[in-house]
This record gives sequence, C-alpha cells and structure tokens, in this order.
Amino acid sequence: MRDVAVIGVGLTKFGELWDKSFRQLIAEAGSKAIFDAGVSGNEIDAMYIGSMSSGRFIGQEHIGALVADASGFSQLHIPATRVEGACASGGLAMREGYLSIASGMNDIVVVGGIEKMNDVGGNFATETLATAADQEWEAFFGVTFPGLYAMIAMRHMHEYGTTKEQLAQVAVKNHANGILNPYAQYQRKITLEQALNATMVAYPLGLMDCSPVTDGAASVILCAAEKTKKFTDKPVKIIASGQGSDTLALHSRRDICTLDATVHAAKMAYKQANLKSSNIDLAEVHDCFTIAEICAIEDLGFVEKGQGGKAVENKITTLDGSLPVNTSGGLKSKGHPVGATGVAQIVEITQQLRGEAEKRQVKDARIGLAHNIGGSGATCTVHILEAV
Ligand code: COA
Repeated sequence: MRDVAVIGVGLTKFGELWDKSFRQLIAEAGSKAIFDAGVSGNEIDAMYIGSMSSGRFIGQEHIGALVADASGFSQLHIPATRVEGACASGGLAMREGYLSIASGMNDIVVVGGIEKMNDVGGNFATETLATAADQEWEAFFGVTFPGLYAMIAMRHMHEYGTTKEQLAQVAVKNHANGILNPYAQYQRKITLEQALNATMVAYPLGLMDCSPVTDGAASVILCAAEKTKKFTDKPVKIIASGQGSDTLALHSRRDICTLDATVHAAKMAYKQANLKSSNIDLAEVHDCFTIAEICAIEDLGFVEKGQGGKAVENKITTLDGSLPVNTSGGLKSKGHPVGATGVAQIVEITQQLRGEAEKRQVKDARIGLAHNIGGSGATCTVHILEAV
C-alpha cells in the first residue's frame, strides 16, 4: 500500500443557506480545496462524494456526475462516484479516496461531502434522517434519531451514573469552540443553565443536546505521499483508515451504550498506525447528540467505559484540556450537514495539524483522529492523520 496525504482543504459556511444551491455549495468547497492544493483539473484522477439523501432533501440523485459537472470538469470525464452510508457518507467517501490512492490506482483524488437539508420542512427532514434507522423495527413505530439517542442516554445514565449536567457540558464546550470557528452554524456561547433548561426534544435530550439541521459542503484533495512536493510543503499524512459496521437496529446490539462499529474501526486504525489512543493529540468525534460524544470518547479508548461523562466534567476534552475534542465546534455547534460531516472533520484536523486553526489552534498538535458515525452506530469510520 502507498502512503496518502491531504494536500488541500475547502469548506463552505455551515448553516441555513437559503441563497445558495446544492451545486453552488459543492463547487465552492471543491474550488477552495483545489485552489488550496494548487492542482489543475487534468491532474485529478477521480472524485468521491459523500451525500446521504439528496433525493429526498432536494429531489436530485446522480450526485457523482452532478458534482463533476458543477465543478467545471464535465469535459474531462473524470470518474466521479457518490458514496452513501447515512451520516457517515463523508467518512466513507474519504476512505474510498484513500484506498484508491493507497492501492496505486490513482494519484490525486478529490473527496467531497455535501447535504442541503433546509429546503424541506422540519418534519420531512426528521423523517428523511430516520430512513437511516431500521425501517421495520424502529422508524415504522415512530422513533426518530433524537429518540434513539435518548434511549442510549437513558441507559448510560442508568449504567454509569452519567448526568444531564454532564451531557449539557458537552454542548457548552462545543458551542465555546464554535464561537472560534467562522464557518460554524452557531457562533454563540451557551451557559450550562441554558443547556439544561432548553426545550425538551426526547428525554433526557433537550434542544442543546442535539446537532441542528444544516446546509453545507466540504472537500479535501488527497495525493500519493511521494508526489506531494509539487503541491505543498505542509502535507498531512493519513496514517490509518478504519471502518466498522453493526446492526441497524439498536435493540439487536449486545450493549446499546457501546458502539461496537466505533470500537472495531478504532482498533483497525490504531493497528494500522501502530499507535495507542494515548498518542492522539486531538479528535473530531461524531457528536450528533451530546451522549454520542460521551460514548465516542469511551469507545475510541480515550477514557474507560462509563467514564465519558466524568471526563467532560473534569474538562479533559476542552480546547486547553489534555485531549481537545471537537475543536471545530463539533456537529453540535459547527452544524451537521450529514453527508459533509465526515469530510469537514478531516478539514478541521488538517488545519490543526498544519498549525492553521487560528484562535482554536491546539498547541503542538501532531496526531489527530476523525470519527464519523452513520445512523445510531451501524456504520463508523476512523481516520488518523499526522503532521509531516
Ligand atoms: N441547537 C441549538 N439551537 C437550535 C438547534 C440545535 N440543534 N436546532 C434549532 N435551533 C434553534 C434555531 O436556530 C432557532 O433559533 P431562533 O429562533 O433564534 O432562530 C430555534 O432553535 C428554532 O429552530 P427550528 O429550526 O424551528 O427548530 P426545530 O424545532 O425545527 O428543530 C430539532 C430542532 C432539535 C428537532 C432539530 O435541530 C433536529 O432534528 N436535530 C437533530 C438532527 C438529527 O437528527 N441529525 C442526525 C443525527 S444522527
């Protein structure tokens, strides 16, 4: 296998973007990344695009070709493939791009992720997101994603004594980081009281425990490590790519508080990188709900099972803590345009490892991890990146 590096990144602002179309968003993120890398269209061997449900959100399928076209590459006939794995679509697109270079098939690949979720009403968006749950056993009976993660939270509170305050502290931390990220949907501070007293969505998860409904796109340019010199003196090497899967329905799992797809993907990634969780300097984890961040830091091995809530309370995961988590603001504050999220996490880690994260820069960051989940944990990708 060949080594692979990130040589360019691009992101749109995340939020309710009424004045921008799907085409404009992906073209903006893609052209920023291409400009950042300094590659030209005829050097690109392939494109992989993560998008969860463009058919329902904007009535448009056939996204691979559309993205190549919107990027101005239709005349180059570049192979362009859409990748889908619910909210892990971006992480999966990243892994496909990585594998295609590692295998020797391609030298330079564009990876994109996009979702435009606000063109439909709230109920329809909730129903669309629920298509990533098990239709027969979950969605048919009316359960939504906030509902599924609420069940995980209730069980976690019961098993490990995790508190509503600890959940709220995840939101307070991620909003504090989001203020420092000009691309974040919510650049506003929230207090513990505001988080605890927010409108209830699905007990114990209130509004501030939930990621929002977001429009946005992200893109990265990957390159065979031996060919990066022509483009950048700051390549960021991808030292591992892990993936795991699990049952679609929560009730079939051995333990709903442990996302075994994460455990498996992390094990695969640590093995490939020849690293332990203690070697990671910072992480972007999939905090679609506050309880998801607590489970993630446990399942990635940063803290013992059941200790995630305590770790947040003890401020281990704040920007100046021993393991900063979701320096971008995470899904909670930066926003969660589902297909774009996994790619946006790579953008943040790359900026951090290049020392370009400005006010949210983690000092001496050398090794970063990105963790992307699909649904309630049926799909997971874990990537580990290292500053060269
Ligand atoms: N966090 C903070 N504020 C939020 C928010 C969130 N998650 N969602 C909405 N808001 C704010 C809006 O900005 C708006 O504020 P304003 O009145 O100052 O403009 C206000 O709350 C009402 O917004 P609205 O869009 O009407 O909210 P809603 O009730 O339709 O949606 C949720 C709220 C929680 C239901 C929605 O954000 C949601 O479904 N989140 C989960 C998404 C999801 O499941 N993703 C997949 C995960 S696997």
